[in-house]
Amino acid sequence: MLIRTHQDGFIHPLSSDITPPDAYATRRQLLRQWSAGAAAAGLAGWSQREAFAQGTSAASKLAALPALPATQSSLQGAMTVEKLTSLRDATTYNNYYEFGTEKSYPALQAHTLKTSPWSIEVEGLVKKPTRFNLEDVMKWGAMQERIYRLRCVEGWSMVIPWIGYSLSDLIKHVEPLPSAKYVEFVTQADPQTMPGIRGGYLDWPYTEGLRMDEAMHPLTLLTFGMYGEVLPKQNGAPVRLVVPWKYGFKSGKSIVKIRFVEKQPVVSWAKAAPQEYGFYSNVNPSVDHPRWSQASERRIGEGGLLDKKRKTQMFNGYEAQVGSLYAGMDLVKNF
Ligand code: MTE
Repeated sequence: MLIRTHQDGFIHPLSSDITPPDAYATRRQLLRQWSAGAAAAGLAGWSQREAFAQGTSAASKLAALPALPATQSSLQGAMTVEKLTSLRDATTYNNYYEFGTEKSYPALQAHTLKTSPWSIEVEGLVKKPTRFNLEDVMKWGAMQERIYRLRCVEGWSMVIPWIGYSLSDLIKHVEPLPSAKYVEFVTQADPQTMPGIRGGYLDWPYTEGLRMDEAMHPLTLLTFGMYGEVLPKQNGAPVRLVVPWKYGFKSGKSIVKIRFVEKQPVVSWAKAAPQEYGFYSNVNPSVDHPRWSQASERRIGEGGLLDKKRKTQMFNGYEAQVGSLYAGMDLVKNF
């Protein structure tokens, strides 16, 4: 997002690290069969995930994930008929700066992220601030598959079948106080397991935030899986946010804390470059980034760099669902 540097010392992928597509497909099939048992036992697969992932090469971690059962969502706007981005693209072209600033680094380096045990601390203006085990949090809503577009502020997009439940279910469960006007999300920042933290690229931990009505909107997804399985580490395991009408950086990965606050929080990218990244960051083709246009986008996996781009849609195509949240607001000022 900001200017890239190569002084962070991250490794580059070796061709020997990339699993050949055939071997990859076979392994996935085997894993699906293996994980069917875990899926039948509800969330039992979750605890096995970490153990199963150990001892394999970085690239093969893409395949080492148990299934996460979910029903299909009937929520308006939660499904798109567009072609899905391939699992391979969605798991090897990532932004996760805690694992490096190149798109290929997270798939190669995120295997060090320890996702079990995992807890989420709920704090601030809430009835009973408490730390919850992830396994408990996973039971607070009905797991649904939702096919959302993810539009990155850098000008590319993907279509991904996510699994999770509306963040509003968690919010109702923890009972925020009436004075809570915003929700802040704090993500994992462990210098032992996240090499990017040592690079000092951002003021860690990576934080994001939403206004309460945005957080309560049914489309806002607390996400535990994708493509029928639990989240790969490079995509933000074990729990991330997906806010489909906002630029991708609003969707914080590997969340460890949810804080209810009265004032609009100063979030990571807005702190790093306030003139470039606003708090709202709604996808808006008519409000350009100071250094590039936002009118069009390149769908990952579709054509080459020189092919015609797609037109970016207002609110990433979710205007009918979320436009009313911003009625009367100046979206140029509140970018
Ligand atoms: N969350 C954390 N903790 N760290 C990050 O660097 N990058 C953001 C967002 N969440 C990021 C993050 C950006 S810029 C984007 S576009 C999306 O994650 C990318 O999600 P994906 O890699 O699953 O496509």
